[in-house]
Amino acid sequence: MRPKLGVNVDHVATLRQARGVQYPDPVAAAVLAEIGGADQITVHLREDRRHISERDLKILRQTVRTRLNLEMAAVQEMCSMAYDVRPDAACLVPERRQELTTEGGLNVVDNIESIKKTCAFLRDGGIEVSIFIDPEADQLRASHRAGANCVELHTGKYCDAPNARARAEELERLVDAAKAGRKLGLKINAGHGLNYHNVYDVAAIEEIEEFNIGHSIVARAVLTGMEEAVREMVETLRYARG
Ligand code: PXP
Repeated sequence: MRPKLGVNVDHVATLRQARGVQYPDPVAAAVLAEIGGADQITVHLREDRRHISERDLKILRQTVRTRLNLEMAAVQEMCSMAYDVRPDAACLVPERRQELTTEGGLNVVDNIESIKKTCAFLRDGGIEVSIFIDPEADQLRASHRAGANCVELHTGKYCDAPNARARAEELERLVDAAKAGRKLGLKINAGHGLNYHNVYDVAAIEEIEEFNIGHSIVARAVLTGMEEAVREMVETLRYARG
């Protein structure tokens, strides 16, 4: 099975918000990502709206031609938003205002009753429901019991492993979780911190269907697009002088 790629365009919106201007537009980035071969566009509408806005989400729903995946906290406000916008998929993530990015998986074991309700509500709206979890057997079982269609395995610890041994251990946890999840009948996705160097071994895990990757792709785009962007500005300056 070909691994699928969901491109997370939040980081494009972060650049826009840093200046409070209209560009770069994550909607335009999503169009280009699809032209480049993305199977899905992923966005995280955070409670503090630090990058993606409601406007982005609503326009993306109209423009995305592949699949739209909404990462969201399992709270009432986001459930209503998802129900209105109807993304193809929703991924339940933990959210803390102070964090730089999503720092750990959702604790499904300790919150199973409320997560079960959220899963049922979203699935009722025809939305595929995923839960972002650490690669742990009890979280997998709880996600299955909560009624999720999929889990997204948090690859952050693997990506941040301080040495080869720790990385090998984290990889093994991902392999075991992917296999165990598939046995439960869950679709297995993975993401967080994956880049052009560390993605190889995780991408080789056959059970993982979909990878959601953002920061490294946007960071790469800044560099691969730099020459062209500078050339255009040089030409614009020259043109202005006639
Ligand atoms: N998947 C989930 C659930 C996330 O929260 C994030 C970060 O927004 C990603 C994937 C993408 O992570 P990164 O930007 O590090 O590639």
